[in-house]
Amino acid sequence: MTDVQVRDHYRATGLTERLKTALRALGPEEQRLTPPQLAALDQFHTRGLAATAELVELAGIAAGMSVLDVGSGVGGPARFLAASVGCRVTGVDLSEPFVDAARYLTERTGQGGQVSFQTASALELPFDDGCFDVVLLQHVAMNISDRARLYREIRRVLKPGGRFATFDVVSNGVEPHYPVPWARTPATSFLLSAAATRGAIEPAGFRTLAWRDDTAAAKAWIARLRAAGPPPSPNLGVVMGPDFAQLSANLTRNLMEDRLGIVMAVFEAVPIETR
Ligand SMILES: C[S@@+](CC[C@H](N)C(=O)[O-])C[C@H]1O[C@@H](n2cnc3c(N)ncnc32)[C@H](O)[C@@H]1O
Repeated sequence: MTDVQVRDHYRATGLTERLKTALRALGPEEQRLTPPQLAALDQFHTRGLAATAELVELAGIAAGMSVLDVGSGVGGPARFLAASVGCRVTGVDLSEPFVDAARYLTERTGQGGQVSFQTASALELPFDDGCFDVVLLQHVAMNISDRARLYREIRRVLKPGGRFATFDVVSNGVEPHYPVPWARTPATSFLLSAAATRGAIEPAGFRTLAWRDDTAAAKAWIARLRAAGPPPSPNLGVVMGPDFAQLSANLTRNLMEDRLGIVMAVFEAVPIETR
């Protein structure tokens, strides 16, 4: 039931067609686009492309690695990673329209040989044990109530010694104002505190390598965006629809009132029997 409600939140009816129309502003359909040109609409998390770049660096992702992006959205982080580092990236997402859009945008950037997407749940990843060097999870965990299963599933598909890089919204113990970008009502929002998030990750077979409170950086980014005036076009409003301005205004308000925080962290997969 929860998966159905989360899927409904990211329902994005006719998304690929809307993207085709919006992207005419950047050039004709046959013109190849670069990942940075799409950054205002395909990095669906706080601090956009800058946060993805920092997470990639913090996790030490290098050329030739095999990376899984869980909850890959419309594929911006996967495309950026493949272009900037030169690794192979597979994305999985619950939302079919998002997966279709991710494939379309990847055709437009000409990265089909390095980046692929499929529809799947983070709680049932369609991969064998131990097949990825790195798993990324950016602004997805807050949609998932069964965190123990989520982190166990991520650990299962990682090679021993592999890295799990996460960038998440966390609760400060106060009810946020809704709607927010990941949930129009509390029914699809499953926030944990920073301590509880770490407390759920480590027992799944992980050792913490880096743990950073990113809240101040998020607030500074929001202040810079406000000072810069109207957002660039096309932006995430194309993906989420006309209420996106309200969803992101509430996220800003929740951060500024310290109802929510943001954490960026990297873990190493350790043998579960010796943790
Ligand atoms: C806020 S968006 C973030 C997208 C992407 N990680 C990014 O940073 O651009 C959250 C994404 O998580 C996906 N998602 C939520 N619950 C999921 C689940 N159980 N399994 C797979 N994907 C899920 C949603 O469909 C959505 O695309």
